[in-house]
Amino acid sequence: LDDLLAEGVTGRRVLVRADLNVPLDGETITDDGRVRASLPTLTRLAEAGARVVVAAHLGRPKGAPEAKFSLAPVAARLGELLGRPVALAADVVGESAKATVAGLADGEVALLENVRFDPRETSKDAAERDALAGEFAALADAFVSDGFGVVHRKQASVYEVATKLPAYAGGLVLAEVEVLRKLTGDPARPYVVALGGSKVSDKLAVIESLLPKVDAILVGGGMCFTFLAAEGLGVGDSLLEAEMIDTCKRLLAEHPEKILLPADVVIADAFSAEANTHTVLAANIREGWKGLDVGPITVERYSEVIAGAGTVFWNGPMGVFELAPFAEGTRGVAQAIVDSSAFSVVGGGDSAAAVRLLGLPEDGFSHISTGGGASLEFLEGKDLPGVSVLEG
Ligand code: 3PG
Repeated sequence: LDDLLAEGVTGRRVLVRADLNVPLDGETITDDGRVRASLPTLTRLAEAGARVVVAAHLGRPKGAPEAKFSLAPVAARLGELLGRPVALAADVVGESAKATVAGLADGEVALLENVRFDPRETSKDAAERDALAGEFAALADAFVSDGFGVVHRKQASVYEVATKLPAYAGGLVLAEVEVLRKLTGDPARPYVVALGGSKVSDKLAVIESLLPKVDAILVGGGMCFTFLAAEGLGVGDSLLEAEMIDTCKRLLAEHPEKILLPADVVIADAFSAEANTHTVLAANIREGWKGLDVGPITVERYSEVIAGAGTVFWNGPMGVFELAPFAEGTRGVAQAIVDSSAFSVVGGGDSAAAVRLLGLPEDGFSHISTGGGASLEFLEGKDLPGVSVLEG
């Protein structure tokens, strides 16, 4: 971005890929962290006189416009935060997008409608993505990749477009990569990873690749029940991915000292804030009940490990923190990270949202990443197409 600004951007159309994929309750944004994280790059470009065209996705529409996935609430919030109006095009690269971009004056900002309304954005066919990227490129003179949360996706507005325009890394992408490199480089020991979230199938690859590099993995969230089942415990009606049990068993056998599982859990008779609940030892989960949070003994144990850590990476809530009876596990583990003097990184939309929604101090963490999948794939050592295309 510095290079682009040094070249001069006044009057130039600059396409910025941002990650504005925020959680919504109807049309209300429940956590605007990603919008706020996109501001520095957009502000610098607008103040330098660029005609800024923002491309972003929201959710996972199926390649056609769907009102509930419109970026309209995001355009409004972005305009408020930028302190300048943001024109929203009614389509991705169609007549409305062309007219909106043509109507921009120097220093003005426009947002294209959800790029995933065009089926070519996420197409498996590279030629289709390439064709859409060509249409994005026709709307701009330069491209800035600033959507760190989406750089692990080989999609038209992330990857192919960067091959068609002079392409630059935005400030957010640079900052995120710099911090995460500290974790893949020579992290201060002990290096502790707290992993939660619902699906163990999404996390096994990262667990497998992190195990040789870290000193401990603290497991929570819905994914812990498949691990508990692999230990031979009954998990009642808790989330269970039976086909993953064997892999969990193998990982536990290979690294018994590194993988820590909950000692106790909060169980409920329904997935509801009004459900009846009990806190029980992990070995005592009742038939017909589901585990929705880790319990206080677990929080204490995990907190002790975190207190002694040199580096902590946290991805994924420990329980269903959105419902008050199941928020304490996430709050407790997050608080332990805040209280520790470790270099700490929060990875992911959900965990970052949890920090803010639970009222924890954002400055209690060394870095809050805007990328969930992207930060995990970075730590796994995978190629991030949206980053490597800039380096190439
Ligand atoms: C995210 O929420 O992790 C990013 O915005 C990417 O979204 P996706 O997983 O739908 O590609």
